[in-house]
Amino acid sequence: DSVWYGDQHLESMTESGFKDEAGRSTTGMSGASGVWSGLPVNVVYIPHEENKNLPPMQNKPRIQFMDGVDQTGAIIGYGGDMEEDPAYAALKVSNNILVIFGRCPHLCCIPGWQLIENNFTADNWEPGGLDSGGNKLFCICHSSRYDPTVVEKNTNRNRASGTVFQYFGIKRTGGPTPVGMPLIPFTVNNDVIEVVDFKAEGIEAMLDWYTYCD
Ligand code: FES
Repeated sequence: DSVWYGDQHLESMTESGFKDEAGRSTTGMSGASGVWSGLPVNVVYIPHEENKNLPPMQNKPRIQFMDGVDQTGAIIGYGGDMEEDPAYAALKVSNNILVIFGRCPHLCCIPGWQLIENNFTADNWEPGGLDSGGNKLFCICHSSRYDPTVVEKNTNRNRASGTVFQYFGIKRTGGPTPVGMPLIPFTVNNDVIEVVDFKAEGIEAMLDWYTYCD
């Protein structure tokens, strides 16, 4: 059910594919951009299980839960709540993978993983969710940057209806985008990364998270 591009064009998206690629990097991270189950996505592999108990240090990436801050500077919520709240069980971190909706909240371009070479996309990692260090998702339209290793709770709005909603997603670190991008729940089935059935899981409301470019 997926259209996947790069060197995996039209192939299934697999956990082992990301793991293999990660093994060839300095940071143990890998990522890819494409269209998956009809959604533009960036998928990032982070060696979270291996590194989560280490003290913060360069090039030992792990998923970091932080407070999301909106454009006004207000704190919206803590990313770690996603792990505790049964309503978001489908998003609970697993398999060292995050699937991230791939539309830039600035003007809806599609940010990418290492699509171009610069300091923001280089194969290195700094802790703390700062704009410094590499392995950012980068939007080439107007240079917005996102740290795909930071999960936060933040707020966005549907462009058409004006409806405001809160979501769990990755952090904006710089550029004109007002906030970061939401996570998409997934499941791994025989190595294949698949989208969940939102209706069966009772999480249809989460589909609103992907409407800010509608
Ligand atoms: S659309 Fe992504 S930075 Fe403008």
